[in-house]
Amino acid sequence: MRVLRNIVILTGAGISAESGIDTFRSSGGLWEQHRVEDVATPEAFVRDPELVLRFYDMRRAAIQTKLPNAAHFALARLAAGWPGAVTVVTQNVDDLHERGGVMSGLIHMHGEHLKAWCTACDGRPVWRGTLIERPACPLCRARALRPDVVWFGEVPYHMDAIHAAVRAADLFVSIGTSGAVYPAAGLVRMAQGRGATTLELNLEASQRSDWFDETRLGAASVLVPAWVDEMLGRAFFERSGTRSDSGTSVSAAEKRGKPKI
Ligand code: OAD
Repeated sequence: MRVLRNIVILTGAGISAESGIDTFRSSGGLWEQHRVEDVATPEAFVRDPELVLRFYDMRRAAIQTKLPNAAHFALARLAAGWPGAVTVVTQNVDDLHERGGVMSGLIHMHGEHLKAWCTACDGRPVWRGTLIERPACPLCRARALRPDVVWFGEVPYHMDAIHAAVRAADLFVSIGTSGAVYPAAGLVRMAQGRGATTLELNLEASQRSDWFDETRLGAASVLVPAWVDEMLGRAFFERSGTRSDSGTSVSAAEKRGKPKI
C-alpha cells in the first residue's frame, strides 16, 4: 500500500464556467469572440494598447460581479481537511479560488486580473479599477501599468514552485481545462513520470484525456464536491483507525500499477 499525501490540483476555465465566466475555447468562448493576437500578446499591447487595456478592464470588472461555485468551495474544504499538502495550481486569472476559501497553497500561473504590473518598478499592486486611462503606479508613480496577466509568448509565473509541487505529488488532478496550453498541459506527464496517480474532471473529454489514469465527465459543480467527499471520507476513515501514519493509504491501481484514486 502506498501512502497518498500530496495532492496537486490544476484548474482551468471550466471550474469557473458555472460562475458565469466564459471559458476560452468553447463555442461562444472568449477566443471565438476575440483573436488571441489582438488582445493577449505583448505585440498586441505595443500595437494597440487601448484595445488591450479595454479588453482587460472589461474582464476585470466582470469577474468582480461573479461568485465562487460549489467546485471552488469544495476545493477549499479539501485544502482545510486533507492531512497532507494540497496545492492548487490555477490557470485562471479570476479570484474565485480565494473567495471560495482556498487560503494557502494557491498558485496563479497565468497571473491575476486583480493585480496590475508596473513595468517600471516591477511592482504588482492590487488593482480593481480600470487601466485604460494610464493611471500612475501607486508604488513608483510611473505611468507604466499593464494587466498582470501572462500573455501568449510570455513565461508563466512560479514555474519552479509548480514543478516542485508536481514532482512531490502522489495524486495529480486536473479540473476544467482543455489541455490546449503548455506548460500547464504537460504537468500531468511530469506527475506521471514521478509515479503519481492522475485524475481528470472535465465536462467533456479533453485533448489530454488519454494521458490520465482516470477521467470523470460532468459539470465541475457536481464532480468536484463528490470527489472531495470521497477524499475526505477516506482520510477520516483512515485517521480513525486503520493506519498509524498521518498519510492516507490507497489500494493498488487498476491502471499502470499506481494507487487508486
Ligand atoms: P479552455 O476554454 O481551453 O477549456 C475549458 C475546459 O473546461 C474545456 O475542456 C471544457 O470542456 C471544460 N468545461 C466547461 N465547462 C465546464 C464545467 N461546468 N465543468 C467542468 N468542465 C467544464 O480553458 P483553459 O483550459 O483554462 O491562458 O485554457 C487554458 C489557457 O488558455 C487559459 O489560462 C488562457 C487561455 O488562452 C492565457 O490567457 C495565458
